[in-house]
Amino acid sequence: MDGSTPLPRRRFLNWFLGTSFGALVAAVIYPIARFASPPRIPEATTNSVEAGDVSDAAFAQKGFKIVRFGAEPVILLKASEGEYRAFSATCTHLDCIVGYQKDRSRIFCNCHGGAYDLNGRNVSGPPPRPLTAYKVNLVAKGSEPAKIVVSKV
Ligand code: FES
Repeated sequence: MDGSTPLPRRRFLNWFLGTSFGALVAAVIYPIARFASPPRIPEATTNSVEAGDVSDAAFAQKGFKIVRFGAEPVILLKASEGEYRAFSATCTHLDCIVGYQKDRSRIFCNCHGGAYDLNGRNVSGPPPRPLTAYKVNLVAKGSEPAKIVVSKV
């Protein structure tokens, strides 16, 4: 009997099973590794954003709206007629999104009852720091309602 025929078949089976197992391991580990490591996409650098105009119904209804400043949510509120203010909308306690209580003239966080005054200073509750302030400019254009531009201070 010639002993050379079974050996290549055995090698082939060993190779086939070995690579199949390797491919199976790679197919399981690669998605887990991709999920565990965040993508390397740099955060867009934004210096100013246009946040609609002063006729926005949100100001009449709630007195504020949340706008995106790059990846950061920003609360834009109407403090008084013609006066708008903007702050980071991320509570400095545990990162909940804050809102504006027009009737009490304060920025409020529903998560744990934190409150900030209209200068963004933490005045009650657990927030340890003030909110980051943004600059608000009103850009008038003819008879159209003024555009609101939010920019970094
Ligand atoms: S997250 Fe805002 S008070 Fe706790």
